[in-house]
Amino acid sequence: MSATLENNFPQIGNIQNLLSTFLAKTSYSQLVVLCDENTHQYCLPLIKNILPENTLIAKIPAGEVSKNIETCQLVWEQMLQKNCDRNACVLNLGGGVVGDLGGFVAAVYKRGIDFVQIPTSLLAQVDASVGGKTGIDFQGAKNILGSFAQPQKVLIDVAFLQTLPLRHLYNAWFEMLKHALIADAAYWQELTNQRPEDIADWTSLIEQSIAIKYEVVRLDPLEKSWRKILNFGHTVGHAVESWALQQQMDILHGEAVGIGMIAELYLSHKLLHFSEEKMWTCAKQIKKYLPKIILQPQSFTEILHWSMYDKKNAQGEIMAALITDIGKAQPQCVVCAVDFEAALVFYNKVIQYE
Ligand SMILES: NC(=O)c1ccc[n+]([C@@H]2O[C@H](COP(=O)([O-])OP(=O)(O)OC[C@H]3O[C@@H](n4cnc5c(N)ncnc54)[C@H](O)[C@@H]3O)[C@@H](O)[C@H]2O)c1
Ligand SMILES: [Zn+2]
Repeated sequence: MSATLENNFPQIGNIQNLLSTFLAKTSYSQLVVLCDENTHQYCLPLIKNILPENTLIAKIPAGEVSKNIETCQLVWEQMLQKNCDRNACVLNLGGGVVGDLGGFVAAVYKRGIDFVQIPTSLLAQVDASVGGKTGIDFQGAKNILGSFAQPQKVLIDVAFLQTLPLRHLYNAWFEMLKHALIADAAYWQELTNQRPEDIADWTSLIEQSIAIKYEVVRLDPLEKSWRKILNFGHTVGHAVESWALQQQMDILHGEAVGIGMIAELYLSHKLLHFSEEKMWTCAKQIKKYLPKIILQPQSFTEILHWSMYDKKNAQGEIMAALITDIGKAQPQCVVCAVDFEAALVFYNKVIQYE
């Protein structure tokens, strides 16, 4: 029953073909499609005609606000009412919220049933659907409850992206830039030569990002060490994100990671001798995709404070994944408070540079 990552690389193609091929090979007692308001409207129509008539459609409100235990309970209730047994399968049709929550719902229902990820946001296609992390937020803290659970399949169709708002394409773009910076210099060149709004066919870029994440996760599925390279940009990024949310600033995770990557290019230069010239060129390339958010120096201490809560930290030290060159990363570097603040100063300099 339980799936593994090995030999289970996400499939990209026409969702009708991919899903019907998968369903033809399986004999589930019940299918449950989990979607949110938007994917119910825009994505469900693309698969509805191949679903059995008695499929349970569970719809949740869109966005991170839904990623909690109350929403799980509502879904479990519907599954019990429908008499879902251990041979049922949950199809998660949505972005990272639906995927993370639906994976968790399936992972604990009757001690674990099958689930399939059908990611519909670019972020879920290149990042959230790969790697087997499932979970929900709890008491205001992100992803506090969860488990590692691998889907039976990850089925991707770029057609879903046609209805995704541009800001959400950008949100994922920063994670794709991160994939390139930690693992693939040629991919970095390819990405930074274009803009998300001009991309006609996402297939090859998605494949390249997934290949990078998949390989990192395959080497270290439980994030003991190497997988932490995926946190590049996230030590400063998470701190900025938490601080900004507390300020009620409207910021997406990817945008915070974009800020974080610029700051961590500086840390890479300072701590791992990443070339100064490349630090500047890479920082300016990231900047061209970012909104102009200037961090007031008074906020630096607060942002630093948020970084102390980061789950990556060991024994009170701030830890970051950094790069030694474009495409080469190191998973765990200790960062002192002075360098952390200097990295924020560098970010401000870059973002204000004309
Ligand atoms: N499991 C992991 O490894 C992992 C990795 C990264 C992020 N995440 C999680 O993923 C979540 C963020 O993912 P997200 O950015 O996809 O958020 P999301 O699921 O909230 O989707 C973003 C928005 O896009 C809408 N949407 C999705 N697909 C659409 C489509 N095809 N057309 C129109 N609208 C569409 C959604 O309804 C939502 O409003 C966070 O909760 C984060 O913690 C998990
Ligand atoms: Zn991220």
